[in-house]
Amino acid sequence: MRTTTQLTTADRKAALPAPQGRPIARSLSGEAPDLRAAYRLCQRTTRQHDPGIYALIQLMPAVLRPGGWALWAAVSVLDDLADSRDAEPAEREARVEAWTRALQDDLAAGTSTDPVRHALVDTALRWHLDPSSLQGAMTSTREDVRGRRFADWDQWRAWCTEAVVPWVDQLRHLFEQAGAPMTLRLDRHKDYEQFVDGAQLTDILTDLSTDLPQGDLLLPHEALVAFPGVEDDLRQGRWSRAVAELIGEMTALARQWLSQPTMTRGMHPGAAIVFDTAADLMRAQLDAVDTAGPALLKRAPRPSLVVRTRILAPARLRATMAWSLTSLTVPGPRRPGVTSSRPCPATEEAAFRPPPPHRDGARPPQIAADQMPSHVAIIMDGNGRWANQRGLPRPEGHRAGTAAVREMVYGALETGLPHLTLYAFSTENWKRDTEEITTILEAIQHGLDEGPIRDLDVRQRWLGHPDKLPEELVQTMRREERRTRNRTALTLTVCINYGGRDEITRTAAALAQAARAGEIDPRFIGEDDFARHLPHPDMPDVDLLWRTGGEHRTSNFLPWHATYAELHFTPHYWPDVDRRDLWQAITEYSRRQRRHGAAPLTTTRSTVQASR
Ligand code: FPP
Repeated sequence: MRTTTQLTTADRKAALPAPQGRPIARSLSGEAPDLRAAYRLCQRTTRQHDPGIYALIQLMPAVLRPGGWALWAAVSVLDDLADSRDAEPAEREARVEAWTRALQDDLAAGTSTDPVRHALVDTALRWHLDPSSLQGAMTSTREDVRGRRFADWDQWRAWCTEAVVPWVDQLRHLFEQAGAPMTLRLDRHKDYEQFVDGAQLTDILTDLSTDLPQGDLLLPHEALVAFPGVEDDLRQGRWSRAVAELIGEMTALARQWLSQPTMTRGMHPGAAIVFDTAADLMRAQLDAVDTAGPALLKRAPRPSLVVRTRILAPARLRATMAWSLTSLTVPGPRRPGVTSSRPCPATEEAAFRPPPPHRDGARPPQIAADQMPSHVAIIMDGNGRWANQRGLPRPEGHRAGTAAVREMVYGALETGLPHLTLYAFSTENWKRDTEEITTILEAIQHGLDEGPIRDLDVRQRWLGHPDKLPEELVQTMRREERRTRNRTALTLTVCINYGGRDEITRTAAALAQAARAGEIDPRFIGEDDFARHLPHPDMPDVDLLWRTGGEHRTSNFLPWHATYAELHFTPHYWPDVDRRDLWQAITEYSRRQRRHGAAPLTTTRSTVQASR
């Protein structure tokens, strides 16, 4: 995170619109020239300041790279402002502060005259990042100007967590928003923070030759006292036995922190490749620090081109393959005037985004209102087989399944379906392997809490029982229910830890309780009384029950509501379906004659074909 190269005036000038710009990411080819130029500057800044980071960003899908450059260029600019030798510390602090304030104003305005901020603001708004979480990191950079001293590793770690983790988190959010989450298991956050500590320690050891002349020795006193005389030696640029021993111990520590083999388990393979390659590059960097000897205090050591190529060439191949298996969610063009990614309730309606269009431009079928179902319920089946078919672990199937969930929500909104209910985790799914259960629950949590569904006109509801569910997921579901309760276009009910018999049993118990309390006479209990005691009494009957994955069962799903549902079974595995399959199901439904026990109609209804 700590970079040393200055961003020159020439660089900033080069960000002005150029009639014949160099080719950059295809995803930006349709953008305004000033925005393209701004991203181009960020790309160049990242490449010049830190070729290793640049190479890592190249492992990301092309559509995410500009966001990566913008974030990294912002870090570089802030570091330059804090480190520039042409000004006194107070002046440098003021410059960092002014840049940070200007970013706040630019975010509110939705644009900027400064090219790096222009790209960063665009990235934040386009991908619904929350840059307010960077405030602490920027304040920390400003305070770095006064010099840092750490008594012990705890203080050092607190600084690292404050200054670095929020930036890496923004990158993680980018992946999440694109539908390729760098999901961290709930119990792996410590590993992640330690990994970031390892990266920071590697960076500090690499940059000793530039930091020491400025009076910065960014290692804790606790580590230095173990090597008598080392602090004096370092501050005077003297290579001694104590310095050599300290460096050996620090590189060993950094290597240990960077080895978090379980951190990427269960992560999207493409995202895991980025993390693993980052670790490999940093290990190579630590080798270079180890072998530099006295030269370490004169210039920053770099691994050789051969070493870097040996790491990066196979990583590029693996990343290309991994991303080719994933369909990413690409945000549509930014709507002018929408400047906040987390709208406050008062302005919420103005900020609803329309769903992004289907990647092939497919449009929903035209179906007469009286032939539209009101409520479609889906058993999302086949995730495991989808993964097996590709030689991937089963959890990958569930992760890929969240992209299909988004597609269904988009398709439902586009076709005007008012109720969509998804069977995400059944009471029987607890019989699965713990790792798979964790992945499913995390996929649900991330999909609903951080994914693009949050900002659509979708009311979220949860059907199921909290027993055994992680507290974090329960809190998320309850919060999302509260936050979205006034939305109207689509009610999305997600069934988590749901079982139909369990629902009926609990409802019967609630009725018995009401009878015992004298609120209801058992002799006159009717269907309506039962329906009123269901967990969501206002949930309409299911018109269409669709199961993917080739099985022909209803598996304990909505037995009360789906008694008269039209059944629709399709062979495709869930991660392979998209909104066109929902439209196809609805089109077929619209052709069916629903009789509810009455005699057949003599005329058939007309339908319009789905556009597939
Ligand atoms: C059934 O396939 C699928 C599940 C048990 C999990 C479904 C969950 C998701 C798709 C995530 C949902 C996310 C949100 C945001 C609601 P299976 O594992 O039984 O597949 P198989 O029959 O091939 O083994």
